[in-house]
Amino acid sequence: MDSRDWDDRYAANELVWGAAPNRWVVRELADGTPGHALDLAAGEGRNAIWLAARGWEVTGLDFSAVALERAERLTADLPDEVAERLTWRHGDARTFEAPAAGYDLVLIAYLQLPAADRRTVLRRAAEALAPGGTLLVVGHDLSNLTEGVGGPQDPAVLFTPEDVLADLAGLGLRTVRAERVHRTVGGEPGHKDGGTGAGGGGGGGAGRVAVDALVRLERAAA
Ligand SMILES: C[S@@+](CC[C@H](N)C(=O)[O-])C[C@H]1O[C@@H](n2cnc3c(N)ncnc32)[C@H](O)[C@@H]1O
Repeated sequence: MDSRDWDDRYAANELVWGAAPNRWVVRELADGTPGHALDLAAGEGRNAIWLAARGWEVTGLDFSAVALERAERLTADLPDEVAERLTWRHGDARTFEAPAAGYDLVLIAYLQLPAADRRTVLRRAAEALAPGGTLLVVGHDLSNLTEGVGGPQDPAVLFTPEDVLADLAGLGLRTVRAERVHRTVGGEPGHKDGGTGAGGGGGGGAGRVAVDALVRLERAAA
């Protein structure tokens, strides 16, 4: 899907992925010490806003202008001290310019790209990590096609934890965890979990289970 497809998708629905942060983001980052974070493909900003409310200074980047307008509107309703910590940036995750070693956290949630583009994004994300920084990648696992529910149905944009590790090989990051995780879906927006569903298709009935790939890595401290 290109940026126009995403604009159309966002224009057709309010809060496509819901307002609540993704559950894996919460599980992995709730205890983290706030610093500077980059949320790549931030969408309407649910995860970035949750991070900012926890004290992080967050830049949320997305190539959908419609998604970012919505993120700006949500930001306007936040307490000033939270809103001031959020910066929304229109850009392509494949080509964005980030300060080298500028972020204590880079988050990539449900950015489903063909393999070559995914590798480009992941390696740029790794370069943006400060010493001691965390890279958290969450997305629809390839096995979701046959064992799960919701998400894109095109295998070319699905990945596995092993794919992510292979994409990042040689960059010196330490793997904290790389696993498949199961997410019960039902009732909420998007794919109706605190969610996800990226490129559509599949549907998500209450009480069914989606399979996600979750990889958490760290750059060594200086
Ligand atoms: C499934 S949504 C996930 C949004 C958000 N991460 C979340 O979890 O709520 C995928 C997002 O990726 C964005 N996206 C897709 N390809 C992109 C690219 N090359 N550069 C920037 N954003 C992109 C879309 O506009 C969309 O907002």
